[in-house]
Amino acid sequence: MNVCIIGSGYVGLTTGAVLAQLGHHVTCVDLDQNKVKTLNDGKVPIYEPGLEELIQENAKKGTLSFTTEVQKAIQQNEIIMIAVGTPLRPDQTTDLSYVESVIEDLANSINSYKIIITKSTVPVGTNEWMNRTLIQKGVRPDLFDLVSNPEFLKEGTAIKDMLNPDKIVVGTTNEKMVDTVKQLYKGLDTLYIVTNLNGAELIKYASNAFLATKISFINELARISDAFDVDIKTISKALGTDPRIGPHFLNAGIGYGGSCFPKDLTTLTFSAISKQVVPYLLHAVQKVNDTQVDYYLEKLQDSIPDLSTARIALWGLAFKPGTDDTRHSPAIRLLERLSEHKCEVQGYDPVAVLNHPSFRQLDDLYESVKNCDALILVTEWEEFHQNVDWNKVKQNMKGSVILDGRNVLDPEVAHQYGFQYLGVGRH
Ligand code: UGA
Repeated sequence: MNVCIIGSGYVGLTTGAVLAQLGHHVTCVDLDQNKVKTLNDGKVPIYEPGLEELIQENAKKGTLSFTTEVQKAIQQNEIIMIAVGTPLRPDQTTDLSYVESVIEDLANSINSYKIIITKSTVPVGTNEWMNRTLIQKGVRPDLFDLVSNPEFLKEGTAIKDMLNPDKIVVGTTNEKMVDTVKQLYKGLDTLYIVTNLNGAELIKYASNAFLATKISFINELARISDAFDVDIKTISKALGTDPRIGPHFLNAGIGYGGSCFPKDLTTLTFSAISKQVVPYLLHAVQKVNDTQVDYYLEKLQDSIPDLSTARIALWGLAFKPGTDDTRHSPAIRLLERLSEHKCEVQGYDPVAVLNHPSFRQLDDLYESVKNCDALILVTEWEEFHQNVDWNKVKQNMKGSVILDGRNVLDPEVAHQYGFQYLGVGRH
């Protein structure tokens, strides 16, 4: 099949590379000329394990190419996938300007039948709006079908997730589209869930909201565990053995971040309110997450009452391991809070970079703790908990407090090296 993917971010690039690998001819489009040039040079502007190799392999075979010429790409391909960003505006509403601009391009370019597949996470009702808008802009209804096909990949394991999906969701009003989507993903053995456009959009938000709910639930439980001197890890382990609950996404920590959970929870909340549904639970999930960093900073203050004279090291800047993405990372929340206390903050991440006026980034794990009063482990990169020379860390630090924001260190071992260990729901 000839596929055009508009938007070359995480979702667009991974989808492009995987569809090319499945045997299709894929053209990825992006308006950013520098990005397209980088991609045509065989380099990938984001850190995603295995993606660069897969892109290079398929570009070499001639099944994957990159261009800025959106109208030409639309005209030359029958399948058009939309994978542009849908970020939040400062007022927390969803910025659909990239989607609107694709609709404009489609309206100006469609000269033969197209199957338009929306991969971007868009608020419920957006695909129906896209359908109406294309017709209003003069596109003949028999010249296109619209399908909502949300993506469930995770950053850091994007290719693996796309090649092994739990399910493929197809939102459509035309049953024939199900076969087309099955042909597109031929080779992926999975369950197909077929629904209407609104249903497919809502499944995506429901999925992220449920995962975020599990995290906020266990984080609230961590606070209760703290109060009763119980180790939250034991609670998670016990909960996880019940197949009705499941073991995943029950790791207590200093909160979820990234480009998806915070944004999608906000958008789902807005969607509910727009229909006069009060989203009590979604509000609570966000409240726990928003206050998690403050709660553990208060604990840090029990050990270091005057943070204004303190120097703090952050290990990890990315919102999770395996990515260089710092969007909505708890590291940023921490940095902002610590700066309010007038702390000096420095840190290290194996991949991610954080440009912030109040932050000094170092490129060595042990240098990053020099003369620090406390170390906060923000992201559970393996090198922060496997084969660390704790003697060296201890010698380099001025103080002895470790706040383990991901509960990956062994409190016993930390105590043996003379650290004061503070975990999330454990100590
Ligand atoms: C998330 C979803 O997991 C994907 O299914 C979805 O496709 C994607 O959003 C999206 O909408 O595009 P992602 O944001 O890449 O994927 O990252 P996750 O692995 O879900 O982690 C999100 C945050 O939750 C991270 O900050 C992580 O540290 C935190 N987390 C995760 C916890 O604090 N505890 C856990 O037990 C699990």
